[in-house]
Amino acid sequence: MIDNKNIHKKGKCLKIINNGPLFGECDISTSKNAILPILAASLLTKETVVIRKVPKITDVNNMIFLLKAFGAGVTVSKDTLTVSARTIKTTSPNEYMAGKLRASFLFMGPLLAREGYVTMPLPGGCRIGLRPIDLHIKGFKALGAKVITVSGHVITWGKSLSGGTIYLDYPSVGATENIIMAACLARGTTTVIGAAAEPEITDLVHFLKSMGAKIHTIDSGRIIIEGVDTLGGTDYTPISDRIEAGTLMLAAAVSGGDIRLNRANINHLEPVSLKLAEAGAEIFPYSGGLRIKGKGAVPMDIVSSPYPGFPTDMQAPFMAACCIANGVSTVSETVFENRFLHVAELEKMGADITVAGRTAVITGRGHLSGAEVCATDLRAGAALCIAGLVAHGETIIKDIYHLERGYEDLEGKFKRLGASIQRMS
Ligand code: UD1
Repeated sequence: MIDNKNIHKKGKCLKIINNGPLFGECDISTSKNAILPILAASLLTKETVVIRKVPKITDVNNMIFLLKAFGAGVTVSKDTLTVSARTIKTTSPNEYMAGKLRASFLFMGPLLAREGYVTMPLPGGCRIGLRPIDLHIKGFKALGAKVITVSGHVITWGKSLSGGTIYLDYPSVGATENIIMAACLARGTTTVIGAAAEPEITDLVHFLKSMGAKIHTIDSGRIIIEGVDTLGGTDYTPISDRIEAGTLMLAAAVSGGDIRLNRANINHLEPVSLKLAEAGAEIFPYSGGLRIKGKGAVPMDIVSSPYPGFPTDMQAPFMAACCIANGVSTVSETVFENRFLHVAELEKMGADITVAGRTAVITGRGHLSGAEVCATDLRAGAALCIAGLVAHGETIIKDIYHLERGYEDLEGKFKRLGASIQRMS
């Protein structure tokens, strides 16, 4: 397993002191949301799959734990992972871990396609929303599978899946991924209409194609998959993390810094970079990365929506930036029902935020004050780092295990850019 055992030993808080603008350069890690479905998809073949530049984050460790529990051989050498799934089990072998990690549901598509049977605990809701799985199930049924829910478990079976046309009422990222993975080994052609179009979906498609899958078209929400009999091994490096890149870009922008982010892909960052440009930031892409030069924070109006819209995963960090602007901003969350948990934490730092339904109105007064706050979820943790970097005084962020689920060494990256940030017990 990738060795991130130290993470929890070192402590559970971050202390941040405003140390002025960020300068310097750092490398962006591999995308969490790209690698999780890719790890699940590695069960689609009996041959060896090599995945490179694997990030040291808890979600990946938990996914590796489940891969092993499903019977796959997994070895790690530095940041390279080798998965060999010659024989596998189809019943979720570790209820606790499968229930804890939402992405565990991504094992359903590959296991159904390969073995014709799978049972998994219902992933349930989480703090940011209900997160049902009806669209995943709709997709499996359209491929000819039977699905029942018994005692909190989803049981899915269908010995020979066959292609079908699936219309997704909402472009769910996870449902699109599960359906593509299941359809790869189904008989005939599957068309997904209303599919999600996030860069992580495109990356999964590239990964599957490198294993021999036939996926023909991806444009404006339509994906066509021609089933094949078997998939083979591959050697693949997933894309960089656009949310981590966006978070560091925002930190540079609001602190008035000037940083270079190697591996950041400007093509995946359009809504974020355009919003930062509205705030006066200058962005200079170069081969293999980008440089951003910031001018501080200005009020903004943000509406999160599926790709290519403004990413919901950047909503919380941008709200933190709005708090230190001078003037009124609005932030509307349309993807998840309850993604404003960071509001109460930002208020502890002196933010003036009024929430009405899914919209928050932020009256920025040009500054925040350091406080003891809690990373209530992954992206809330990133938002509090942004706030702490520019607040007056000292900010203590508790429960940073949420951050460690999805950001590889964020603290180290901020340090390399000159921030005063320290892990505390
Ligand atoms: C993925 C990302 C997450 C990101 C989200 C939206 C991963 C591992 N996680 O999560 O970081 O915030 O996309 O960009 O890639 N929905 C239904 N029925 C379903 C499935 C989803 O109603 O069957 C709803 C959800 O409740 C939510 C919305 O659709 O309100 C978006 O969810 P979805 O796109 O599925 O997100 P995830 O794949 O869970």
